[in-house]
Amino acid sequence: MSVAEAHGIERGFDPFNLNAPHAIWQSLRAESPVFFHEATGYVVVTRHADIKAVFDDWQTFSSENAQAPMRPMCEEGKRIMRDGGFTAYSGLSARVPPDHTRIRKIVQGAFGPRRFKAIEPQIEAIVARQLDGIAPNGRADFFREVAYEVPALVLFTLMGIPAADVPKVKDWAISRALLTWGNLSDEEQIPHAHKMVEYWAYCRGLVAARKQTPGDDLPSDLVKLQAEGAEITDEEIAGVMYSVLFAGHETTTTLMANAVITLLTHRDNWDAIVADPSLIPAATEEILRYAPSIVAWRRKAKADAEIGGVAVKEGTDILLIMGSGNRDDAAFANGESFDIHREGARNHLSFGYGIHFCLGSQLAKLEFGIMLRELTRRFPDLRLSEGQNITYLHNISFRVPAKVDVEWGTRA
Ligand code: HEM
Repeated sequence: MSVAEAHGIERGFDPFNLNAPHAIWQSLRAESPVFFHEATGYVVVTRHADIKAVFDDWQTFSSENAQAPMRPMCEEGKRIMRDGGFTAYSGLSARVPPDHTRIRKIVQGAFGPRRFKAIEPQIEAIVARQLDGIAPNGRADFFREVAYEVPALVLFTLMGIPAADVPKVKDWAISRALLTWGNLSDEEQIPHAHKMVEYWAYCRGLVAARKQTPGDDLPSDLVKLQAEGAEITDEEIAGVMYSVLFAGHETTTTLMANAVITLLTHRDNWDAIVADPSLIPAATEEILRYAPSIVAWRRKAKADAEIGGVAVKEGTDILLIMGSGNRDDAAFANGESFDIHREGARNHLSFGYGIHFCLGSQLAKLEFGIMLRELTRRFPDLRLSEGQNITYLHNISFRVPAKVDVEWGTRA
């Protein structure tokens, strides 16, 4: 069977609208699990087994388009980036073997559990400080006042960067998300193009500074490995910084925010964790499955191939909807229901699968676990503020809520 053109249910599918995508994903899984989406030019894949098979076959399905702008950069934006010396593309996720294999091996060595474990007390202090800050208020926008900064502060500890730089790095991350995965007009692209120039200069500056004065941090580790003969260039180290300074906080911020929404709208699950914090590791996997930060990721067919019995031509761009695969009944019994006691939740696809599997998954889970433990311990009666309509960032991949208003203590 060759790939189907959109004819029915697929016509109502807008991959940029992540406000309430689950019902249409469910219909697509049932009726049209692999189809061509004309507006974006991507073949969309929604079933768990098909997504996993594509991730697994990296020879046939390359990640080279993972960081390509969904909407090409306008000429003025390209000029700004060219004149500003912007040469970044991807640290790892859009690189392909053998370069990917070589760089990942080096980064993995510098980025192992030893570093993560060592900063656990600092993570606890960062979480405590942030929660102390909101505690007297009785209400907060959990996204902006708690989740927004914590993962960036943790990452900055790992990278040896001053906390004062958090606001600009968070700002650059949003620009990068919108330029790569969003649908901005030419005019809207311009301010973000300027920010990308600043962001890349910052990453290169970081490498240059560590070459001058090494410290005890991730960029210094990579510079040291390079000096000892590891095959990695300055530009590639800067590329890894460019990757990690984005991937290392935005996604974890989102996980924390989506977790609060999910647990507070499934109150029995929240209450179960309040009563028994040892449920947190299992709850983390179920939250990752049910409310992933990254709901879609991309691959390109390098040869004529088949996905779920549907033929795709060499050169086809593919959009894998992991947010949908994660709720597939074929992989998770009663997949649309949320239950932290579920067995097998960890088979979710939220960190990808195969050779590009997320390098920061352990760090993300460590940070998230500490946050959830402290949140349930300090604010057992936390609740979502009534009457709010939570909207999500307009893009294909990152399901980021605009705000999450919460309250605790006695109602006024
Ligand atoms: C909840 C948090 C996170 C989620 C949902 C997430 C998700 C993902 C996904 C979906 C991929 C692509 C996998 C693939 O193509 O198969 C990825 C790759 C990656 N992630 Fe994460 N991530 C998270 C946190 C982090 C953190 C904290 C870091 C670093 C500190 C990180 C660093 C990376 C890197 C470097 C890659 C590229 C790996 C490669 O291509 O070899 N991520 N992540």
